[in-house]
Amino acid sequence: MSDNLIISVNGKSHTVQATPDTPLLYVLRNELGLNGPQFGCGLEQCGACMVLVGAEAKQSCKLPVSEVGHKPITTLEGLSMDGELHPVQEAFIEQQAAQCGYCINGMVISAAALLWKYPHPNDGQTRAALDGNLCRCGSHLRILRAIKRASELMWGEVAHE
Ligand code: FES
Ligand code: FES
Repeated sequence: MSDNLIISVNGKSHTVQATPDTPLLYVLRNELGLNGPQFGCGLEQCGACMVLVGAEAKQSCKLPVSEVGHKPITTLEGLSMDGELHPVQEAFIEQQAAQCGYCINGMVISAAALLWKYPHPNDGQTRAALDGNLCRCGSHLRILRAIKRASELMWGEVAHE
């Protein structure tokens, strides 16, 4: 049976009707009409459905909506501020990181979480952060370049001695 659940998405509180075990992704797409998180595999294998839960990137395709509690959820739609793209989005465009685009929304979310945690991540930290994101087009090198560029846009260049 459906319950009324209150969730906070992109800075707004929403009351949604869902059973507690409904995957968060279904609520975001079907109840709130947010298409930023994509349905890819539905099995926590590809990362297309990535959203921020608090400051952490999470796959939402199997995450029960009731487990999110009061933590703020941010989807791709909520990353931009006052009509300005998030620096990660800017960098992905600048570096032409997308080929087919299937993986990109999830990659952007994972990259945003990474750059809050590590403003200037090393390659190992970046690769670990993208571990749950698949790119079937093999755009990984451009995606890594875009993340490096986003780090500069957000936090400035690292000073080399
Ligand atoms: S759709 Fe969630 S990981 Fe693939
Ligand atoms: S750009 Fe096509 S799957 Fe990544």
